[in-house]
Amino acid sequence: MTRPNAPAFAIPTDSALLSVRDLTKTFPGRRRLGRPSAPVRAVDGVSLDLGAGETLGLVGESGCGKSTTGRMLVRLLEPTSGAIAFDGQDITHVPQRRLRPTRRHLQMIFQDPYSSLNPRQTVARIISEPLLVQGTSAQAARDKAAELLDLVGLSPEHLDRHPHQFSGGQAQRIGIARALATGPRLIVADEPVSALDVSVQAQIVNLLERLQHELGLALLFIAHDLSVVKRICDRVAVMYLGRIVEVGDKRDVYDTPAHPYTRALLSAVPLPDPVAERRRERIVLLGDPPSPAAPPSGCAFHPRCPKAQEICRTRRPALTAVGPASRQAACHFPENG
Ligand SMILES: Nc1ncnc2c1ncn2[C@@H]1O[C@H](COP(=O)(O)OP(=O)(O)OP(=O)(O)O)[C@@H](O)[C@H]1O
Ligand code: SF4
Ligand SMILES: [Mg+2]
Repeated sequence: MTRPNAPAFAIPTDSALLSVRDLTKTFPGRRRLGRPSAPVRAVDGVSLDLGAGETLGLVGESGCGKSTTGRMLVRLLEPTSGAIAFDGQDITHVPQRRLRPTRRHLQMIFQDPYSSLNPRQTVARIISEPLLVQGTSAQAARDKAAELLDLVGLSPEHLDRHPHQFSGGQAQRIGIARALATGPRLIVADEPVSALDVSVQAQIVNLLERLQHELGLALLFIAHDLSVVKRICDRVAVMYLGRIVEVGDKRDVYDTPAHPYTRALLSAVPLPDPVAERRRERIVLLGDPPSPAAPPSGCAFHPRCPKAQEICRTRRPALTAVGPASRQAACHFPENG
């Protein structure tokens, strides 16, 4: 007999806290000059697993579907198709009211701390909000908010201030405190440092790293900056036009990338050693990523791929094992296989 909340797919590892299979999101086309434009396939069949306490980096160029994926994982956005299981429960279509006990374990940190914090609310109210929703009393929620401010490196005396009274880095600490309020097991951090001054980015990354270790959080860390991902993540997934094109242990992906797109992204990351930096090969990608409203045939990367061959134009490569057991890539001609 099937349990009502049993996942509609086989979960591959017992240890996976989050399992996602064939997730898609299609946005309807907007009307332009009176005519409807083609639907946008923002996420086109993403599958991934995230273990308890694990950090997975999700990287790729602007518009490849990172935020859409992250928002679906914490059920802030309804998937068009596919399945999401959290802690062995299929949560893909659980109505928001019934999702409440699980929602406390799924939280999100946003890119722009100011626009994600209500400017009219005090810090106490902002951090307490998710606790009040869960039925915590007002006093207990305020006490917890003070404790959380301390945890993220701010003074509990700041409880009655408003977001505009803080710097960008401090405001992001408040966003992190709010995400931690309900004791989550999984946090999706969507470019949590890219809107901040370079000088404070490292402080926020250090804080996230410390909290992730201390609290044993699973973290999906969405970023443009591959150096930050290398530092904070255990594994990394590379997205291109709505699909994961390479995923694996950080060391395997960074040291011996299998997919030409990963190689190109990594070749643009500055090296700390100036001699190595001068000598290394740069792979320049031609043009911008194609529109997800009109994806290329076959391998979606073929119009920009330096290794493309005839088969790449017609046959879409599946994500398959390449080299070390944990690594997969979607390419007909992977490197380091
Ligand atoms: N609400 C929406 N309606 C229509 N199209 C959307 C919507 N949200 C996102 N898109 C489109 O879906 C695609 C993926 O967007 P998404 O924001 O997930 O990308 P991203 O990888 O997070 O980009 P960035 O690095 O710029 O944040 C883009 O083409 C975007 O224009
Ligand atoms: S399948 Fe072909 S076009 Fe796509 S990444 Fe591999 S070599 Fe390049
Ligand atoms: Mg985004």
